[in-house]
Amino acid sequence: MAGLLTVVLAAGKGTRMKSALPKVLHRVGGKPMLQHVLDAANEAGSEKNVVVVGFGGQTVKEAIGSQAEFVVQEEQLGTGHAVMQADQLLKEFDGTVMVLCGDTPLLQGELLAKLYNEHKQAGAKATVLTAKMPNATGYGRIIRTVSGTVRKIVEQKDASAEELLVDEVNSGIYCFERAALFESLAKLNCNNAQGEYYLTDVLEILGKENEKVWAVVADDYEQTLGINSRVQLAGAEHILRRRKTIELMDNGVTIMDPASTFIDMQVTVGKDTIIYPFTWLEGNTAIGESCEIGPNSRFTDTTIGDNVTAHFSYAHECEIADDVIMGPYVHLRPATKIAKGVKIGNFVEVKNSTIGEGSKLPHLSYIGDTDIGSGVNMGCGTITVNYDGKRKFRSTIEDDAFVGCNSNLVSPVTIGKGAYVGAGSTITKDVPPAALGIGRARQTNIEGWHDKRK
Ligand code: UD1
Ligand code: MG
Repeated sequence: MAGLLTVVLAAGKGTRMKSALPKVLHRVGGKPMLQHVLDAANEAGSEKNVVVVGFGGQTVKEAIGSQAEFVVQEEQLGTGHAVMQADQLLKEFDGTVMVLCGDTPLLQGELLAKLYNEHKQAGAKATVLTAKMPNATGYGRIIRTVSGTVRKIVEQKDASAEELLVDEVNSGIYCFERAALFESLAKLNCNNAQGEYYLTDVLEILGKENEKVWAVVADDYEQTLGINSRVQLAGAEHILRRRKTIELMDNGVTIMDPASTFIDMQVTVGKDTIIYPFTWLEGNTAIGESCEIGPNSRFTDTTIGDNVTAHFSYAHECEIADDVIMGPYVHLRPATKIAKGVKIGNFVEVKNSTIGEGSKLPHLSYIGDTDIGSGVNMGCGTITVNYDGKRKFRSTIEDDAFVGCNSNLVSPVTIGKGAYVGAGSTITKDVPPAALGIGRARQTNIEGWHDKRK
C-alpha cells in the first residue's frame, strides 16, 4: 500500500502542565489537542493514524477510540525512539509517513497537504516543515548548506553560539518515505546533550547518504506552535476562537464582541444571526439564520432553528425550532424539544419534555417529563410534580389547554384537550377534555377578624 499515513507523538508527560490528565487530552477550542491534530491529518489525506502513547496511554486510547491505532513507548527515550515504536505496525506500508506531535492544536489540514505535496514533488526521502520564529528559544535550528539545502537540525542544547543565531526552526512536523525513515532510525545513537534518540538526526543521516532532504517553510508559524503550559494553552484558545469568529463573520454572522464570544470549532451559525457578548456555543451546536443569541447565553450540543431570540438562556442537548422566543433566565435540560413559535422565559426550567407549537410558558415554571401540546398556556408558577422520591412519572397536557397560575400537576396526569385548570390547584386526577379541574380548598371569610384579634 502506498499513500500517506500519520504517526503522532504523544508519549511525553507534559510536565509543565502540572496535570493528572495527559497533555494531549487538554481541551482547546472545544476539543482535545490531539483531536485537532488528527483532524488536520485527515484533512490532508492521511489514510491511517498511529498514535505513540506513554504517560496516561490508556486514557488517551479511550478518548480517541477507533480513530487511530496505538503503540506504546514504555520509556521516553526521545522522539526518534518514539517513532521506532511504530516500526512493526507499518512494515507492510510502502508510502509516506507524516510525523506530527500531539500538542500542536493550531495545525490545519491545508498546511499539511502542502508539506506532503511538496515532499512528493521534490522526490525527497525526508521533508521537514520549518518556520521563522520571532523567538527561536527551545526549538531545534535548521542548519543549511551554502547551496541552501538542509544539512542537519541541531537542538538548542547541542547548538554552538553561531547555530543559536539561526531563526529558522524545526516545527517537529515531517514527511518521510517509510523505508528510508526506519532504516535511518536503526542508525541513531544518543550521543547528545540530552542522551536521547533524536528523530531530527534522521535528516543528517539521509543527507550524508546523498538522499534528498527537503524543507518547506510555513508562512504562518502560529500553526506550528506547541503547547507546553497552561499559559500557552490559553494562548492557543485565543487563536482558535479568533479563527472561528472570523470564519463566521466572513459568512454573514454578526458578532458584536468577538473577544467575549466563545464558539467551539464544530459549531455552525446561519447568516444574519446576531450574537451578543458573553455567549458560549459549544460542542455540536447548530444555530439557524436571523437569530438573536445572547447576551449571556450558553448552548451545548443544541440545535436552534431560524428567527429564534434567546437571551440570558442556557440549553444543553435540546432541539429548539423556528421563531421561538426564550429568556431571560431559561434552563432547558437534555431531551427537551421546543416546537415552532413557543414563548418561554423568566425563570423557567424544562427537562426531558416536548412543548408543542405556539405554546406559552412565560414565567416561573418547572416542567419535567411532560408532553405539552400546541396552543397551551401554562400559567405563572405552574410546576409538574414528576418525582415521588423514588420514581419519575410522565404527564400529558393536550392541545389548547389552559393551566391557571401556581398549579401543581402531580404526575402521571393528563389534562385533556381544551381543558382548564383553576389557579392554585393541585391536580392529582386527569382532567377530561374541555372540562375545568379545580383542586384547592374553598375560600372562607371570617367576618370581624380584625376586632376579634384585639
Ligand atoms: C522537538 C525537536 C525540535 C523541535 C521541537 C518542535 C527533537 C529531538 N527535537 O524538540 O527540533 O524544534 O520538537 O516542537 O525531535 N515524545 C515522545 N516520546 C519521547 C519524546 C518525545 O512521544 O520519548 C513526544 C512528546 O510527547 C511531544 C513530541 O514528541 O509530543 C516532541 O517532544 P519534545 O520533548 O517536546 O521535543 P522538543 O524538545 O520540543
Ligand atoms: Mg516540545
